[in-house]
Amino acid sequence: MITGVRTVSPVDNPVASPRADARGTAAWRPDSWRSRPALQLPKYPEAEALDRVLGKLGTLPPLVTSGEVLTLKEQLAHAAAGKAFVLQGGDCAESFDGCESPRIAALLKVLLQMSLVLVYGLNRPVVRVGRMAGQYAKPRSADLETRNGLTLPSYRGDNVNAPAFTAEARIPDPQRLLSGYYHAAATLNFVRGLIDGGFTDLHQLATWNLGFVEHSELRHEYEKISRSVLDALRFIDSLQHGPADVLSQISMATSHEALHLHYESALTREVPRRSGWFNLSTHMPWIGMRTAGLDGAHVEYCRGIQNPLGIKVGPSVDPDDLLPLLDVLDPDNEPGRITLIHRLGSDKIDARLPPLLDAVKRSGRTVLWVSDPMHGNTESTKSGYKTRRFERIFTELRRAFEIHRDLGSHLGGVHLELTGDDVTECIGGARGIDEAGLQRAYRSHVDPRLNCEQALELALQIVHLHQEEAGA
Ligand code: PEP
Ligand code: CO
Repeated sequence: MITGVRTVSPVDNPVASPRADARGTAAWRPDSWRSRPALQLPKYPEAEALDRVLGKLGTLPPLVTSGEVLTLKEQLAHAAAGKAFVLQGGDCAESFDGCESPRIAALLKVLLQMSLVLVYGLNRPVVRVGRMAGQYAKPRSADLETRNGLTLPSYRGDNVNAPAFTAEARIPDPQRLLSGYYHAAATLNFVRGLIDGGFTDLHQLATWNLGFVEHSELRHEYEKISRSVLDALRFIDSLQHGPADVLSQISMATSHEALHLHYESALTREVPRRSGWFNLSTHMPWIGMRTAGLDGAHVEYCRGIQNPLGIKVGPSVDPDDLLPLLDVLDPDNEPGRITLIHRLGSDKIDARLPPLLDAVKRSGRTVLWVSDPMHGNTESTKSGYKTRRFERIFTELRRAFEIHRDLGSHLGGVHLELTGDDVTECIGGARGIDEAGLQRAYRSHVDPRLNCEQALELALQIVHLHQEEAGA
């Protein structure tokens, strides 16, 4: 976790000496995944060039620390127990060009604003996890893309190739992995600096306002909440004769899809005085829907690391697929280890979620359940924009809360694609973006994101749902 208090210690100086890993899993190594079928990985034209890059990545310092990773795991365990709520959000795909201070600060601001609303409305601490500082590799449904009769390899994220539609841009270039590392490091450095400098101190919440939201209908409700929080803070400050430190320290963790296994394993390290291996490129890697096969390389890689793991659960997953996956990835039923992120679609959640909840409950496991209401609700407009309707996103989220409640389970968080920028990629929301309005500021190279106003609206809606349930 990145907090206002330094948690980096000499323990996080990695060592290279091999030793048995704590999970006692036979024959696992950071690169044992290479013996398994590896989906969604690029084919590099020159193996030696890739090896040179991986050699360099293997010597570069870690981006996060093992202490931070374990702190997040504890916080996720709290959320699984219903004592905290997880807000995971950020770009579908970060881009190297997007690594600019205003955009990073805007994402931080919208996550902070949303979490303020959620803390206040849900009466629980919020664990913030950015899809950031490393979300540079993308799985694709199709290997090839055709435009106006020309067919080229698909764009697979800035860690692999470039989005421009030319043959040259689409050739996988291993040097991009090094760029990805440096861009992630620059992003994290800036976020750590902002947090250390007091940017996330609750006392500063008046300065988190994003200009765009100032003109929104939602402004009044948001302002009412911020005023209440400021009043409460002033009260606590006056009791303590000074600023309430504990309340003002806000932490932020990073996450990305553990897709590019060459990159992930190059940043997988042992650290002195802790057992096991850690992926130190991010706090919380997740396994994407397309690479969650039990015998595949991605599951093999993830089973051996100590990080908390997200697993995306799509509509084709049955209990018979899910339970063996949990046995492999979490043999000890360790608190905080597994976050199941269901992304089923507003039209499928009613049929697909209950059997999964039942099966996990019957297995006696404790997992953290999180709803991703974005990825099962993607559609294309006639004019060719990939979009999502706010209404469907909200419906899936509402049904997720209701189904968990009805089955005696508990939804512990949300996973969203969002940005702090004023984009027009999703249809609907308070400002009523329609199909024709998408072209004004459609910037995503991959999936459509909620803009800051739609994201804040969703946070307010989550609170309304909670209040309805509490009043029911
Ligand atoms: C994503 O999170 O951007 C993604 C591709 O999700 P999924 O694996 O659930 O399709
Ligand atoms: Co996406």
